[in-house]
Amino acid sequence: MTAKPRARLLVKTPGKHVDPRWALLREVVAGHAARPGGLLPALHNVQDRLGFVPPELISEIALEFNLSRAEVHGVITFYPHFRSAPAGRHTLEVCRAESCQALGAERLAEHARSRLGCDFHATTGDGAFSLEPVYCLGLCAQSPAVMLDGQPHARVTPDKLDRLLDVARELEPYNAEDVQ
Ligand code: FES
Repeated sequence: MTAKPRARLLVKTPGKHVDPRWALLREVVAGHAARPGGLLPALHNVQDRLGFVPPELISEIALEFNLSRAEVHGVITFYPHFRSAPAGRHTLEVCRAESCQALGAERLAEHARSRLGCDFHATTGDGAFSLEPVYCLGLCAQSPAVMLDGQPHARVTPDKLDRLLDVARELEPYNAEDVQ
């Protein structure tokens, strides 16, 4: 019996603007679908390329893997690593593992939430910062620790965190539209 060709959603959906990157993503997803256990690698690959897994892509992924949209959505929401929206321009990761917890990480986490006005696994309203937990940065002897844009920082106090966030903001490219 000849396999029925699958419908292609991303590049031929009539009447919709199609992001040209999605043609490539479709090939990536299809490549993983041919392998057992390919769903997670496919999702990682999409997120590595785009920074998130667009909700509009779920139908295509479900089709390729012969799953329902709910099943794919369930996998994406089960793993906090996966994003359904783009990350902020900066990513602050606060270590929440044991050594840091013992030396004030909870207070630091609370300060980060309050200062940024968003919870973990979320992004500030202006898109500047995403706040993420991390479980040990290898700086246990200098707890509490954070990572800002891939750069580790040790013995972080709330004041030090404020300074780090201020510097990150100051280093952002000047955007005339931001200054009224
Ligand atoms: S527990 Fe935080 S760096 Fe190791």
